[in-house]
Amino acid sequence: MTATNRVERFAVCAPGFEPVVAAELAALGITGKVEAGGVSWMGVDREFYAANLHLRSAGRVLTRIARFRARSFMEMERHVRKINWTPYIEPGATVDLRVSSRKSRLYHEGAIAERFARFISEEVGGVATTLRGREAEEEDGGEDAGSGSGEGDSGAGRGSATDSAGQLFVIRFSRDECTVSVDGSGDLLHRRGYRQAIAKAPLRETLAAGILLAAGWDGSTPLLDPLCGSGTFPIEGALIARHIAPGIANHDFAPRPNAFSRWPTFQPELWERLVREAQAEVRERAPHSIAGSDRDTGAITAAHANATRAGVEGDISFDVRALSAARPTDNSTPGLIVANPPYGVRIGDTRPLRNLYASFGSLVRDHFPGWTVAMIVANDGLERFLELPLEELLRTGNGGIPVRVLRSPEVA
Ligand SMILES: C[S@@+](CC[C@H](N)C(=O)[O-])C[C@H]1O[C@@H](n2cnc3c(N)ncnc32)[C@H](O)[C@@H]1O
Repeated sequence: MTATNRVERFAVCAPGFEPVVAAELAALGITGKVEAGGVSWMGVDREFYAANLHLRSAGRVLTRIARFRARSFMEMERHVRKINWTPYIEPGATVDLRVSSRKSRLYHEGAIAERFARFISEEVGGVATTLRGREAEEEDGGEDAGSGSGEGDSGAGRGSATDSAGQLFVIRFSRDECTVSVDGSGDLLHRRGYRQAIAKAPLRETLAAGILLAAGWDGSTPLLDPLCGSGTFPIEGALIARHIAPGIANHDFAPRPNAFSRWPTFQPELWERLVREAQAEVRERAPHSIAGSDRDTGAITAAHANATRAGVEGDISFDVRALSAARPTDNSTPGLIVANPPYGVRIGDTRPLRNLYASFGSLVRDHFPGWTVAMIVANDGLERFLELPLEELLRTGNGGIPVRVLRSPEVA
């Protein structure tokens, strides 16, 4: 494998965000093909590194290393024997295998993993191998993996304390077709590193960024989240507005560690050049006001701490404030009001939430003329209490709950 080899890459995302990832790739000059649960393209290492550094809405970026059909272990072994593992693992490295099998003759995930492990050990030598099955996929947030690619994180769950410690390979059987991929990201990409303080029901960073992008917000107008919790929307907004790549979302704009930097084929000069270019793109300040408010003091303290770690505290004003008291912080031009309100399905009784939705709607109508609204709602029918014209942007999952992302046109 050389730097100029075009091989198949796959950016994994939560269901519903495939077109957003495709648009992000297009902005990097990459034409991708939308698949269930992600976007694939034939790309060189530079594009693979750039995708890991710049994609805001993807959870992982993989390189697909083999694809074959197998209906027996003998057939599978014939193909696995041909795979060259050495570009991705140093002798003695720890390897994690994640196997999933759906609608396939070979369905025993443990038995598949065991055979792969044997071949990897034989070829690379002395590799300690951890077998990981579907449980690991679910821990990584794969609640919705059934509707996704099965090749990694759905991006929709809570995340896991057990992210791959070793080099992760994803082996997926679907209708007897096997796809073998190597993960280039390491820790899931939503772990930008800035969010250590969390409030209630925090939103994944990849989801928040994906929603802002899906709503067409690019940082050139104001942004307000009046139910901001630990500040994920305003922080991701500030990163977008200042052109800070998510892979350098910290005070020093230092790159987050990636799995591919441990590959024997890693090209440090190429990676360092891409990081320097990303650092040079950073704008001094967000051009418009970005604000977050919440009635919970603890949430606002957490939001401040997170924004500081992300290096964007100077771009966001955070306030402890009830929803009804929220006002535009920038009157120069209308912007986007975005929110992830609590879901009725979680708390059972929806009465208090009806009031919350109704007051959200009247707040927007009374005080935010010309602004656009983007909101995450569960399938609890509460959006009718907003009394706002809304269209569905996408459907996805959040923490195991099916949700829809709605957007209003500009409010008259
Ligand atoms: C689902 S959480 C938002 C999580 C946030 N997106 C994050 O990533 O951390 C909903 C938030 O709405 C806030 N909230 C609920 N009712 C409110 C009200 N009437 N006024 C202001 N904040 C409210 C809660 O304190 C909570 O932080």
